[in-house]
Amino acid sequence: MGFVDIHSHILPGMDDGARDLDEALGMLDMAWEEGISDIIATPHYKQGRYHARRQAVLEQLELLQDAAMEQGIPVRLHPGTEIFYRGGLEEKLDRGGLWTMNGTEYVLVEFLPLEEYPYIRNSLDGLLGMGYRPVLAHAERYRCLLKNTERVREIREMGCRIQINAGSVVGDFGRPAGRFVRELLRRQMADYLGTDAHDLRKRNPAMKKCAVYLYRKYSPEYADALLFGNAVSDLLEGGAAT
Ligand SMILES: [Fe+2]
Repeated sequence: MGFVDIHSHILPGMDDGARDLDEALGMLDMAWEEGISDIIATPHYKQGRYHARRQAVLEQLELLQDAAMEQGIPVRLHPGTEIFYRGGLEEKLDRGGLWTMNGTEYVLVEFLPLEEYPYIRNSLDGLLGMGYRPVLAHAERYRCLLKNTERVREIREMGCRIQINAGSVVGDFGRPAGRFVRELLRRQMADYLGTDAHDLRKRNPAMKKCAVYLYRKYSPEYADALLFGNAVSDLLEGGAAT
């Protein structure tokens, strides 16, 4: 079992991630080199802009998985979506139009970086009320949380889970984000890691450097949980998908 990347825009032609099959295969190859054995593919769903609907995600995923097998890249792909939150999302999920994380009750949601905290909290609460478990995508991106880890504690206690980007752990996204994620890690308030990979250039599926850092700075149990344990038990086992 390798690392599990729960946030990746690797499916070709679905959003601003991989442009074509070649780029997606290159990303998969790099992911494998970086120690990743499982990826939850999470193309954007954003009303009016990106439309990662259920059937299209599955088709692209199967295409890429087959191509990867032909090339001898053993990374396993699982279906998901990164959903930009808007009112009415709960109904859309209930109608089955979008992938949750591998068909579980977990849903990867994102908001505008400058969104106000009460809106984020109430939206997450709405999802929880409908029986979903929101996973807040790249928690380090929201200004209202950056200097306020108590808010992260609050939404976790409500039942939400927290995803941070591997690149933020090693300082790729600036100092405030780096400081914030290290504070979350110190308090064991981050639950999952994602590469949030979009391409093979700046936003690539790097994980190794982050893993080395985690094992050096934190307990091996927590590093294991972040790098694969939590994702395996919550999202991969018991998934209703592939
Ligand atoms: Fe993303």
